Amino acid sequence: MSARCYELKQKLDSLHREFTQEIAKAATEQQLRKVFADYGGSAGSIRLAQKDALRSAPNAEKKSIGQLTNEVVQAVEAEFERRLAGLAEEERKRDLERTADVTLPGRKRVLGHLHPITLVRREITAIFAQLGFVVAEGPQIETDFHNFEALAIPKDHPARDMQDTFYVEGHEDLVLRTHTSPVQIRTMLSGAPPVRVIAPGPVYRKDDDPTHSPMFNQIEGLCVDQGITFADLKGTLLHFVQRFFGADFQVRLRPSFFPFTEPSAEIDMSCAFCRGQGCRTCKGTGWMEIGGSGMVDPEVFRHVGYDSEKYTGFAFGMGIDRMAMLRYRINDIKLMFDGDVRFVRQFR
Ligand code: FA5
Repeated sequence: MSARCYELKQKLDSLHREFTQEIAKAATEQQLRKVFADYGGSAGSIRLAQKDALRSAPNAEKKSIGQLTNEVVQAVEAEFERRLAGLAEEERKRDLERTADVTLPGRKRVLGHLHPITLVRREITAIFAQLGFVVAEGPQIETDFHNFEALAIPKDHPARDMQDTFYVEGHEDLVLRTHTSPVQIRTMLSGAPPVRVIAPGPVYRKDDDPTHSPMFNQIEGLCVDQGITFADLKGTLLHFVQRFFGADFQVRLRPSFFPFTEPSAEIDMSCAFCRGQGCRTCKGTGWMEIGGSGMVDPEVFRHVGYDSEKYTGFAFGMGIDRMAMLRYRINDIKLMFDGDVRFVRQFR
């Protein structure tokens, strides 16, 4: 054996030993494949050693260099395959040792469910949908024009006191809408009559006691066509109350004032607690207020470009949260907004 071949053999033996140590340390298939690539791969250190030796070798020695290297590469490959099979076996054993206690009780999934206000809103919307009302929406941050001006509530009008307003800081023209009535304006500005819409959604007022919340939900109704009368308003509200609460409930329209309706009326229904007999909740009257209503004022039609000689309409706005309180006998509106799951769970 020439001195060059002897030197190469020494080098290859040393690499082989290193390889053997390294694969013993490899704990995963990925690590093992990397060690093999570093030593026995086409660009690994064994092939590099062969290339080094070949560079200065005379032709007569090249065959021996090739043979020496191939023997080591084959040995390394065989060791790699054995270790690979060994790792797979270890993994299988670990899998088999992992035991499952099939007698343990299963983990129960907690099912979510709808908030009482959502349940009530959906039910009310469905009742009006059956009467041909479609859902309309508007922004919760509203312009002064839509929330007040176009509803015949000018800046100095005393009716602005009825709804203590949250203004958007730095934007005098923007408010958190104080009622859903601006959706009436947006609807009428976007299309000609006939109109029959229902608009549920959150509204905001500086109000805070057991039956008033600073954020609450209203549902607005608007119906405009030729020949719409106050009787249509009363018939629609009576139908709704009897569908939602029960056939023995009555509706009473009590004269009132809203700048955007003329005539205007508060909507009362038979007290849900005493069924009209008179109790503490209804202060002995047998009635409870659920909203406001009236015939659309011609001034509002003027703002949206409708011909008040040709068309008439009715509108109403009711408190959804109030109706949820009546339906489920909840005595404090805040319970619905506190986020206590023990409360919400009762409405599964
Ligand atoms: C209005 O908001 C009018 N926009 C209703 C209307 C629409 C009249 C269309 C005419 C035509 P009012 O301020 O009364 O009206 O509010 C209507 C209902 O919202 C009340 O009857 C009550 O059920 C509910 N409500 C009012 N303030 C609160 C509050 N702070 N928390 C919970 N519910 C409230």
